[in-house]
Formats: sequence, structure tokens, C-alpha cells
Amino acid sequence: MTKKEAREIIRQRKAALGKKLIILGHHYQNDDIIEFCDYIGDSLELARKAAGIREAGTIVFCGVYFMAETASILAPEKHVFIPDPSAGCPLADMARIEDIEGAWELITCIDRDITPATYVNSSALTKAFCGRNGGIVCTSGNAEKVFRWAFKKTKKILFFPDRNLGRNTAISLEIPENSIVEWDPDRDMGGLNEETILRSKVILWKGWCPVHWPQLKPSDIKNMREKHPGVRVIVHPEVDPKTVKASDEAGSTSRILEYIRSLPPGERVAIGTEFNMVNRAATDFKETLAIMPLKKVLCEDMEKITVETLAGTLSDLKYAHEVTVADDIAQGARIALERMLRI
Ligand code: 13P
Ligand code: SF4
Repeated sequence: MTKKEAREIIRQRKAALGKKLIILGHHYQNDDIIEFCDYIGDSLELARKAAGIREAGTIVFCGVYFMAETASILAPEKHVFIPDPSAGCPLADMARIEDIEGAWELITCIDRDITPATYVNSSALTKAFCGRNGGIVCTSGNAEKVFRWAFKKTKKILFFPDRNLGRNTAISLEIPENSIVEWDPDRDMGGLNEETILRSKVILWKGWCPVHWPQLKPSDIKNMREKHPGVRVIVHPEVDPKTVKASDEAGSTSRILEYIRSLPPGERVAIGTEFNMVNRAATDFKETLAIMPLKKVLCEDMEKITVETLAGTLSDLKYAHEVTVADDIAQGARIALERMLRI
């Protein structure tokens, strides 16, 4: 199938299905896909949208697997499809449920005053673990709120899988550095001891997004500022704390776009996140702002959604990949997701 044919199929199927179909797209999708999306957002907005869909019975999710899975959990009566089920998230894969359960058992033997919180970039099983254990989900758009919610309940948080988002959030809440410790799932007792666990307030899982870390560095910001004096720098909080410190602002993908919209004409902005989104913003704002990538970084998994795979999905939904989550897992995961959506 050529790209042209694929685009024609998508147009025809969208017209035929009308309001029965909604196509959701994450900001990291490329322009070819964004053109066909009915709604575009960050992870939090897409979760809220999926939870609130009334009319459409079919959701096609253009993003990575955990996002489609989240939509399926929040909209259990809908059929949710993903154009390529191999579009995963390496960060989500860094928190395996058996490792989390093992860590939880060891940690809670030492201190039970702890809440588990998972980044939405995680499996349904991981979210269900949080739901069952009084925990919650967060996104990069509400992590501070979620940490505050958890600290009202318990004096500690076990946060997985993104060490960078976790540490950036803890720092912005002024948690002392010596109360933030890291659990390495590949080491005995996570590489910690009873004393460090007892004095900690935040236990971070040792996981990271390979698109943002260690690719985006403080030295990239330094070079950018030398080359473009006066440039503003905004990064995604999946970069490490040193890179956040060297930037002017950090936020979710939608927060980054909101920041750009708030700038007066003539500004230069360097954005530290996935290239498709940065490139689109550069085109959209080209009349008023000079927008550039801090570095060209791409998410290979997001790239797996193409007009060809989207056309393949829409041509015959009977043979497309429907994302389903077993009822018992979905129930637990929904508890943790709904806690997040309520705060
Ligand atoms: P946002 O929630 O900010 O859109 O981020 C999702 C993501 O996967 C970033 O790498
Ligand atoms: Fe996962 Fe990173 Fe890709 Fe986001 S950019 S989907 S965290 S691999």
C-alpha cells in the first residue's frame, strides 16, 4: 500500500464510521498521523478524554501501548484499537510486576507507612498493583499533586518506573536530597539497607526513558545558550534533575505547548523532548517564534504508528489489534487511575 492509498483509506473509513469512531493521538505522533486525529493531547488529557467518551464505540489510539491500555481500562465498554501493538515503551518495561511485588514485600517488612505510585508509563498489572495497595497513578502533568496526595496518607512513597520524573517531582516539593533513595531491581534489597529505607521519604525505581535520558544533558543547554544568547529552554521532566536545573522550565508535553503559546513574539525557544512534537511546534509558530530542538531525539515506538498501519486498522476492524485487559486486572488498575483523575 502506498502512502497515498493509505491516506485515502483512512479518509473513507473515517467518513463511513462518522461519530462511531474517535481517533486519539499523542503529541509525539508525526504530522501524517496528527492530521487524522480527532483529539491530540498529553497522557493525562488522553486518559481524561478516553474516560469521558460518550458517543463513539470505537477508539483508535495513535500512541504507545500503555496509553491504549489506559484508554481501554477507563472506557471498558468501548473497543480500543492500536495500529501497531509492538509500539511499546521501554520505560514501562523497566518495572516488571514480579520485581515490584518483591520490592514491596521487602520494603513493607521494614516500614508499612508507604504508598505505591506508578507513572502512567507502566503496564496494567503495575497499575493494578497500585490500585490494590492503596496507591495511585500519575502523569508528568500531575505528579506533584499526586505526591502531595500520597504524603497526606503516608510518610513515604515508592515511585516507579521513572527515577527522573520521581526525583524532579520530589525536588520541586522540597524533599531533602538525603530522603530520596533509589531501588535498583537488579541488586539484593534494591541496593539499600534497613537504615536508608527507614529514613527515606521517596524510594525511586531505577528506570528511565531512553529518549530523554541520558540523551538530553546540561551540556546541550550550555551549548544552546552559547550559540543563541537569550534562548529560553523548556524540557520534559523525564530528563534528569541537572538538566531540569539548567533549563528555564520543565513540564508535560501539553505544558510545553502552553509555555510556547504564552511567549511574546520574537522569542527563541529550545525544547528538550521528542522531535516530532518540537518540529510541529516550530512550523506552527514559525511566524512569531524561533523554536528548535535541544537535540533531535525520536521515540522509535511512537514512530511505529504510520498511515499504513492506521489504514490497515481502519480497513477492517475485525482483523485489527484490539487492546483488552482482563477484568480482574482492569478493576485494580481502574481504581488507581480513577484516584488520579479525581485529584
Ligand atoms: P506526556 O504525558 O507529557 O505527554 O508524556 C508522555 C511520554 O511518554 C513522554 O515521554
Ligand atoms: Fe516511553 Fe520515552 Fe517513548 Fe515516552 S518517549 S513513550 S517514555 S520511550
